[in-house]
Amino acid sequence: MPSPLIDHWMLDPSVVFLNHGSFGACPRAVLEAQAEWRARMERQPVQFLWRDLPDLIDNAREKLADFLKAEADDLVFVANATAGVNAVVRSLRLSPGDELLTTDHDYNACRNVLAEAASRAGAKVVVAKVPFPLRDETQIIEAILAAVTPRTRLAMIDHITSPTALVFPVAKIVRALEAHGIDTLVDGAHAPGAVPLHLGLLRPAYYTGNLHKWVCAPKGAAFLWARPDRQDALRPAIVSHGENTRRPGRTPFHDRFDWPGTLDPTAWLSVPAAIQWGASLFPGGWEELRDRNRHLASSARALLAGRLNQTLPCPNELLASMATLLLPAALQQLPFDPGRFDPVQMRLHTEHSVEVPVVRWGEPKRRYVRFSAQAYNCTEDYRALGEAIIRLSNGQHPG
Ligand SMILES: Cc1ncc(COP(=O)(O)O)c(C=O)c1O
Repeated sequence: MPSPLIDHWMLDPSVVFLNHGSFGACPRAVLEAQAEWRARMERQPVQFLWRDLPDLIDNAREKLADFLKAEADDLVFVANATAGVNAVVRSLRLSPGDELLTTDHDYNACRNVLAEAASRAGAKVVVAKVPFPLRDETQIIEAILAAVTPRTRLAMIDHITSPTALVFPVAKIVRALEAHGIDTLVDGAHAPGAVPLHLGLLRPAYYTGNLHKWVCAPKGAAFLWARPDRQDALRPAIVSHGENTRRPGRTPFHDRFDWPGTLDPTAWLSVPAAIQWGASLFPGGWEELRDRNRHLASSARALLAGRLNQTLPCPNELLASMATLLLPAALQQLPFDPGRFDPVQMRLHTEHSVEVPVVRWGEPKRRYVRFSAQAYNCTEDYRALGEAIIRLSNGQHPG
């Protein structure tokens, strides 16, 4: 029996959808709000994009600032977290020998941004190895601090890691790095809507987050937060009019980011609708939605670990609404063709109608399954995943 809440989404009921984490899934109500913005834009494109948009963005930004517990002045919309990371890293003035610190749980696209900026400046990327499986958060903090040197200029730290679904203790990491004089860029691609955020308290140098994932906004909605003392040096990934065109009453930071050339801004404008929709789903609002998803991810992990005979790679306290487990030995043997989709992920989808990412991670690389828990998921979905994995691994080694 699928969850009745699935009717809020447009998801295909014939697919067991356990990958909210990659691209989210936008609820019908939020898509309707976006459609209204679009209709308004197309009725009078110039009025909308030229004259109305600045105030509309300000209004959406205020609502987002409330949700993130931040000041709207410190916040801009971007298209996605990749754009946020690009803006920060490519705005740095690096010198030869400088170091950009990341971890081996980071996201490939963002590592590429570090590598590109480093190679242009003769700087280098240093990768802290965070153990996985792991016992507790102190191992994460220790691994990161062990990789710090006097040349470390910036640390890019994931709030929730993509390949391993760990919630990093970002507040402790930011403070510990600050004590060494090091700026942190928090890559919070998965965090808004999955964990409570208080950016005004966290106050790293920079924080970028996606809204299309766990806030359930339309695709194209993400943000970049920057501490006031870092805003002047920041340039968006796309330089546009705002570089030399000041608008009265707005900061240069907003001027530079609010107009990245002509694009459909309705995803940004629909963020308040998404925040409001998430708040209305359960009586306890966002807190209840986050807690339910976190508990579902933990209980699903326990169920699957039992069925697949795997040990838990981290304590429940380090999980939000996703979790990972090592796949059985038989599925580790399948060859991997770089540049193609993982064959286990493909077969889970094509043969068993289960949409779930299979990640190859670690040294040597091993296959993990990363499953998400959103309000539309239920225990039956994880049973289906468990049975599909067992059938695939049995097929791999028949008899
Ligand atoms: C940790 C992390 N950073 C950045 C990104 C990039 O997000 P986007 O493709 O929306 O830019 C992702 C995507 O899932 C991610 O997991």
